Amino acid sequence: MVRTLFAKILLWSVLAQLVTVATILTLATVYLPESQQAVDNAFRLYADTAVTLYERFGSKALDQFLARSGDDTLLRLTLSATNAGVRCGRKSDTTTGIQARGQNGSYCLTVRAKSGGLPESRESRRTRLQITILLELLSSLGLSYGIARYLSRPISDLRQTASRLARGDLSARVGGRFARRRDEAADLVREFDQMAERLAGLVEDQRRLIGDVSHEIKSPLARLNMALELARRDAEAHAPRQFARMQHEIETISQLVGELLTLASLNAATARPLDQTVDLGALVAGVLADMAYEQPGRADDLHFTPPAPPLLVRGDKALLARAIGNVVRNAVFYTAPGARIAVRCDENGPGRVAVSVQDSGPGVPEAALDRLFDPFYRVDDARTRRTGGTGIGLAICRRAVDLHAGTVRAHNVPPHGLAVVIDLPQVGGEVDVA
Ligand SMILES: Nc1ncnc2c1ncn2[C@@H]1O[C@H](COP(=O)(O)OP(=O)(O)OP(=O)(O)O)[C@@H](O)[C@H]1O
Ligand SMILES: [Mg+2]
Repeated sequence: MVRTLFAKILLWSVLAQLVTVATILTLATVYLPESQQAVDNAFRLYADTAVTLYERFGSKALDQFLARSGDDTLLRLTLSATNAGVRCGRKSDTTTGIQARGQNGSYCLTVRAKSGGLPESRESRRTRLQITILLELLSSLGLSYGIARYLSRPISDLRQTASRLARGDLSARVGGRFARRRDEAADLVREFDQMAERLAGLVEDQRRLIGDVSHEIKSPLARLNMALELARRDAEAHAPRQFARMQHEIETISQLVGELLTLASLNAATARPLDQTVDLGALVAGVLADMAYEQPGRADDLHFTPPAPPLLVRGDKALLARAIGNVVRNAVFYTAPGARIAVRCDENGPGRVAVSVQDSGPGVPEAALDRLFDPFYRVDDARTRRTGGTGIGLAICRRAVDLHAGTVRAHNVPPHGLAVVIDLPQVGGEVDVA
């Protein structure tokens, strides 16, 4: 089954040329023998006439006939009597002999071309036709390849770039490869690049805005916190519940601003040093120990299967711990106490490792699975507000994993529950202790 545009154009172009060649071949096989036959018949007629003239009127009449016919046809004609066993047939490209029978014996009319060659024999004509067809097929194949490549290249480049954009690489462009081309495909490529440029600009503006606003809020928030502390010292006794509430809200906002700043800094970071060699199993165990400390009531729900040989990845230890921690925290927060949370760390195909966190909570609607990793996305606002989530945890996770050339995906598991799988490139070498 041909599925690429290139292969389809190539196939159709070759087919079209094959049909053309087959048509020429059919015409040649139908008409060429006829024209050959006509030449053969003419020579035979000369030979019969020459023999009759010779036998009836003698050699003078024969010579006159041969001379006149020869002048008219640019041929040199000679008639000779043949004995049994003497070959009378084609001798070279310029000479042939035609056998004719008379009343007194058999004769051979030798036909010599005065200039050029005689019409070709059927065999050599066929060989020449076959070579021509072969050459035609080869050149048509080359031409078809060129046409198919020319037509399909912008589309396949466009497809690759679109899929890079869809994976979040906002720098993806088809580029100036088709700058000198003037057709609809090249226009499409140019317009696509312009659209990608504009899109990347908008996303970049949005990211910068989030980063800038968070940064601007940070200082007044710190001052507010200090002012609250001072006010608390003097007047907490008058309104202890209100002060506690204010403190809680300030902490929530501080946490949100902190996460937003982390996300903004991760988005801006492309040249962050990711050069530590990290034992992934040990890292996951550490994240789970922290979680158990944070939520002692849920410690028994966390089940970890460590990898047998250590699995190493290269990157930023703190960032990886944060990415995995956010997933584990979600599993704890969005499932009821007692619900089993299985964490695994395994090899995942050649040169890859995966950390999977599978809970037995409610899962998420299928349509929401891809959006979980978008900033501020929350499946159910009311439920999440109760648990205090802001919708940034998984966005930070995805960005951190992206920076490590990895992928993160979520899927629902039967009978109910969510599994989040972080896939990373594996490396060999010594673990960095830091
Ligand atoms: N294990 C899970 N089970 C069910 N829903 C989940 C799970 N993990 C994430 N979600 C849903 O995905 C949404 C996004 O998660 P994310 O971690 O990005 O944000 P959050 O937990 O709401 O806030 P925070 O920024 O504090 O992590 C959550 O609001 C929740 O609706
Ligand atoms: Mg979360």
